[in-house]
Amino acid sequence: MSDNIEKQKLIAGEAAALLVESGMTVGLGTGSTAVYFVKALAARELSLKCVATSKATAELATSLGLKVIDLDKAGTIDLTVDGADEIGPGLGLIKGGGAALLREKLVWEASLRCVVIADAAKSVKMLGRFALPIEVVTFGHTTTAGRINDALAWCGIETEAKLRVKDGSAVKTDGGNYIYDAACKKIPDPELLAEALKSLTGVVEHGLFLGLADEALIGADAGVERRTS
Ligand code: A5P
Repeated sequence: MSDNIEKQKLIAGEAAALLVESGMTVGLGTGSTAVYFVKALAARELSLKCVATSKATAELATSLGLKVIDLDKAGTIDLTVDGADEIGPGLGLIKGGGAALLREKLVWEASLRCVVIADAAKSVKMLGRFALPIEVVTFGHTTTAGRINDALAWCGIETEAKLRVKDGSAVKTDGGNYIYDAACKKIPDPELLAEALKSLTGVVEHGLFLGLADEALIGADAGVERRTS
């Protein structure tokens, strides 16, 4: 990872931390960019309640002195800040590279405002270059994968979703599910694909975050660029 990219993630995370005010309930994202946000937020020493989108983020936040509560105890979340794997037109996103997409989407959907933070390389003209993560239940997962491939083909995307494996074992999410990654290359109609995947029994969630981000703070060499579309 180049120093420039790390700097871009850092300044985006720091800019997002400045959006937070004392008394807020804040959703904490997952991934390397979200780590910069969580650290910058903790350094501000505000009075906050936080909801984490993964066990890893909950551990980090707690270790830095932030108060982490359950989503079910939080009610409405004022602001969630999280990273993304791709940011496309209209702030449509691909997320889930860190396997946290289900908890991320649950927290995002419970939030009044969602801000995505990223380095400049995450901006794309069309979603799909980053393989789309799809979370499936372990029971019958190969059968589900076949139906995912059919749904992809129905959307005009010819590819085979691959079970995510790390160190020789299938990756399990915090919820105990598997992740399949679909190397779509291009997703011309993200809404159509999102609907097709969501309708499949065995698919718990997919990494298309559409109509959820209110703004993006994108780190660049010249500073942080704010996008609202
Ligand atoms: C976690 O599952 C993801 O959605 C991350 O938010 C996404 O992969 C971005 O991660 P980085 O900030 O590490 O690129």
